[in-house]
Amino acid sequence: MCGIVGYVGPREATPIIVEGLKRLEYRGYDSAGLAVIQDGRIEVRRDVGKLTNLEKVLAESPVHGNIGIGHTRWATHGAPCPRNAHPHVDCRGEVVIIHNGIVENFLSLRKELTGEGHRFTSETDTETIVHLVEKYLAESSDLEEAVRRALKRIKGAHAVVVMSSREPDRLVAARLGNAGGVVVGFGEGEMFVASDMPAILEHTREMVFLEDRQMAVVTREGAEFTTLDGQPVVKEVYTVPWDPVSAAKGEYKHFMQKEIYEQARSITDTIRGRVDFEAGRVCLDEIYITPDEAKAFERMFIVACGTSAYAALVGKFIIEALARIPVEVDYGSEFRYRDPLVNERTLVLAISQSGETVDTLAAMEEARRKGAKLLSIVNVIGSQAARMSDGVIYMQAGPEIGVASTKAFTASLVDQYLLALHLGKLRGLIDAARMKELVEDLAGLPNLVGQVLGDSNNYEALAAEYFKRENFLYLGRGINYPVALEGALKLKEISYIHAEGYPAGEMKHGPIALIDENMPVVAIATRDRVYEKMVSQIEQVKARDGLVIALATEGDDAIADKADHVIYVPPTPPLLSPVVNVVPLQLLAYFIAVRRGCDVDQPRNLAKSVTVEGRGAPP
Ligand code: AGP
Repeated sequence: MCGIVGYVGPREATPIIVEGLKRLEYRGYDSAGLAVIQDGRIEVRRDVGKLTNLEKVLAESPVHGNIGIGHTRWATHGAPCPRNAHPHVDCRGEVVIIHNGIVENFLSLRKELTGEGHRFTSETDTETIVHLVEKYLAESSDLEEAVRRALKRIKGAHAVVVMSSREPDRLVAARLGNAGGVVVGFGEGEMFVASDMPAILEHTREMVFLEDRQMAVVTREGAEFTTLDGQPVVKEVYTVPWDPVSAAKGEYKHFMQKEIYEQARSITDTIRGRVDFEAGRVCLDEIYITPDEAKAFERMFIVACGTSAYAALVGKFIIEALARIPVEVDYGSEFRYRDPLVNERTLVLAISQSGETVDTLAAMEEARRKGAKLLSIVNVIGSQAARMSDGVIYMQAGPEIGVASTKAFTASLVDQYLLALHLGKLRGLIDAARMKELVEDLAGLPNLVGQVLGDSNNYEALAAEYFKRENFLYLGRGINYPVALEGALKLKEISYIHAEGYPAGEMKHGPIALIDENMPVVAIATRDRVYEKMVSQIEQVKARDGLVIALATEGDDAIADKADHVIYVPPTPPLLSPVVNVVPLQLLAYFIAVRRGCDVDQPRNLAKSVTVEGRGAPP
């Protein structure tokens, strides 16, 4: 996914755009560029690699003007190199574009436009759009109209911003489908466009989100919104509750480190306003489910991707235990194509930190098409998933900038726990006394997570011992099996070590063959009803000289004799133990990645939210 920023107003555009791109670099970071109208002409500066390279180019050859657009790229078509970096300019140098998404019919358009004499300078699909705009601008001399006609010719999902020296006072932005959001920010006598709020939070909290097939013409005075067919649209202005500080690193070395250490507070914020601890009551009115509806649900699906899918696997345990609805968990990328058995008596929950993950959004559309009740658990306010749901439970975790998701994972577990209590209550399965107990368990959670974050378990020492290993196995059972999956994913995505999470009971059916003196095994063996089973798994690993890092409950001295290292966590109610148990695994992965000198916040080939279907970044 790419990052987009635009500015029009009285101030110098370049520094505003560069600062905005810095806050979006987690979205794509293999090349960057910007364009500014200077003395009536479009000036473009681009470079491959991190934003710092572009800053060097700007230092050597600065550009000045009050209107401009900028882009950070996560390549899909055309390898990362200066000529493929955005922005892209037309043949006359009068129109320039930045784009997020894939032009699925770009080859045929390119052939048509080349045939008409247009000269292409890159291998990107994006460049076809600017030449289409050029073609229609020659016919209509109206930038908005030319952009509208061009967008009607391209297939796929897109977010674009176009600027022209022929109309140097405006930006034309548009959104087609799910290729990441387009936010328009309202300032005092200036306006902003971005693909995500953190880019412009420093300047305004008044934001409008473009829906599918909507356009905005943005001048320093304001913005006019229309549909792709030209119908005027009245838009609601959101006041975003996030502040620029929360989107900054503060004293931490990495956003991931900050977001891990924020979890005691972010979990408190997730609970805030949803629980009356006095009365032992959960209030989730924002999801509009009646007792009759709740009782009528025959089954539930949770659709998500990556870390959110692992959170869903934990949610399955909690919701089946407390609300007694059969729950199936599906990857968005699978659910959307497998014709799932969904109808109006099905509840479908989507989980997405960004709310823009294309496979999850497509799964939601599939559920909607089949008549399901559609809920979502989302972190980004006003994102597509939130807007297309019947009810949304926000994670309230604050901006999550590090590509490796951490606090959104724990926040979505807490949200699912709240949802399970709410559904259990509506279905008449949880009486007041039981509800009080379950709510009290939740009350103690931030403190338990705080203890884990504050304790002496020396993750750096552990990392020093294990950072050279090239393989890891993570084992868990029951509600902590998905935590093993998540622990392995964290290590994989930020340290590039091959790590696998596995249900411990499956060990003897294959993975035990991997065990020898070189294989570190992280075993989640906190006290619950499968504890004894986990201990015997640890013994089986040790019997084959495997290296065991055990996650255990404070006071469990016995396990210390069986494992090479023990990470102790405080005793936690079983249904909430994944929230506490995942934190040491996040920290272990973090310190190992730091020790290996990896770029923790922007791991290779990854982006914070995947808005293009099933493609990784080209090597
Ligand atoms: C997790 O660390 C990854 N960044 C990735 O797996 C992520 O969870 C996945 O892309 C889903 O993102 P979402 O929650 O924003 O939909």
